[in-house]
Amino acid sequence: MEGRASIVAGESVVLNAPRRDEFVARWSLFNDPMLAMMLGSPVLAHGVHTRTMPPVSAEYREALYEEHVARRVLCFEVRLADGDGRCIGEAYLADLTWPRASGELCVAIFSPDDRRQGYGTEAATLVCAYAFDGLGLNRISLRFPVENVAATQATERAGPDLRARKVGVEREAEWVFGRHGDVAVWEVLRSDFPPHPATAELRTPPGEFAG
Ligand SMILES: CC(C)(COP(=O)(O)OP(=O)(O)OC[C@H]1O[C@@H](n2cnc3c(N)ncnc32)[C@H](O)[C@@H]1OP(=O)(O)O)[C@@H](O)C(=O)NCCC(=O)NCCS
Repeated sequence: MEGRASIVAGESVVLNAPRRDEFVARWSLFNDPMLAMMLGSPVLAHGVHTRTMPPVSAEYREALYEEHVARRVLCFEVRLADGDGRCIGEAYLADLTWPRASGELCVAIFSPDDRRQGYGTEAATLVCAYAFDGLGLNRISLRFPVENVAATQATERAGPDLRARKVGVEREAEWVFGRHGDVAVWEVLRSDFPPHPATAELRTPPGEFAG
């Protein structure tokens, strides 16, 4: 993956910093209304957000990248760890504010062919590890429509390992699948999240870093 800025690596996927040209060029992938519905399609009051209903334009992606540059949203590429390092998805930490130190995690694996192979779960875990150990976030939340079976099952399966807990259900909180649908909210706290090998050295006690 020459010329790419890798942040943290897992067994199957790595998180990379997106390059503007490639990030913007992916705009058309987000014109799948079903993907938008699965994500939850909110358009937040402060404007550009990681999730929105189509039509999504290259200019929207430009604006999102600017939010990333301003560090109000952090965007990550999810790339395969092996082979050509193909970009299979993106992950986001949105609504970052300090000193609140909280953010909302969202993961999208683009192609159905790449789903159900553990990539989404590993990407979410790596974002949490980096956010807690690298960025010093204190809390990460996850919101998705209750009808999103993949997100529901994946979160319920990974939740115990990540020490995540379901906060509850926001009723009719987003526009999903033709009506205002319920949204599940999960959270994980830094103090609960178990150490992860990808970021273990970032937790090394002072004086013990071997370099
Ligand atoms: C939700 C999403 C990120 C999950 O990522 P993924 O790589 O497909 O999921 P994983 O392979 O990590 O799934 C782990 C477990 O979750 C469950 N799961 C995942 N997808 C499922 C599905 N479609 N139906 C039922 N269970 C599913 C399974 O138990 C699975 O383990 P198994 O395959 O060994 O049985 C992915 O489906 C996606 O990008 N969807 C579109 C965008 C989206 O909805 N994002 C979530 C909003 S934050």
